[in-house]
Amino acid sequence: VKGQVMKKVQADRYRIGQVLINLISNAIKYSPNSDRIVVQSKQDTEKVTVSVTDFGIGIPKKAQDKIFERFFRVEGKEEKTYPGFGIGLYVSSEIVKRHNGKIWVESEKGKGSTFYFTIPFK
Ligand SMILES: Nc1ncnc2c1ncn2[C@@H]1O[C@H](COP(=O)(O)OP(=O)(O)OP(=O)(O)O)[C@@H](O)[C@H]1O
Ligand SMILES: [Mg+2]
Repeated sequence: VKGQVMKKVQADRYRIGQVLINLISNAIKYSPNSDRIVVQSKQDTEKVTVSVTDFGIGIPKKAQDKIFERFFRVEGKEEKTYPGFGIGLYVSSEIVKRHNGKIWVESEKGKGSTFYFTIPFK
């Protein structure tokens, strides 16, 4: 952003990289009929927020808080086609929590999903 000083966060570069890889891999995996993924980041006074948006199968409301649990995978005939262990988001949320950040999703079934995570300055 023009005129804005880019602050730095104290973070484990490798592990935050893993979080991004997990979110982007999911975005690709769960959007077979779309070729667009949007990765954005912004900062405010106390944190950086990163988001990964896809236009894929989406996640039903009732599953949205469970997907960060270990081994949880959404059940459904669409989801069956995508192999996985249900570990990526659990690991990602553990990493983000250890950076005192937050991770969450906004999604609509059939439309797509946006995953957000924050890392606070200091
Ligand atoms: N972008 C997404 N769009 C739709 N569903 C998603 C998305 N990301 C995650 N999910 C759902 O959340 C579940 C958990 O995701 P998670 O990444 O933890 O596991 P996984 O992708 O199944 O396996 P892996 O351990 O290989 O990452 C997935 O099985 C899927 O049902
Ligand atoms: Mg995954």
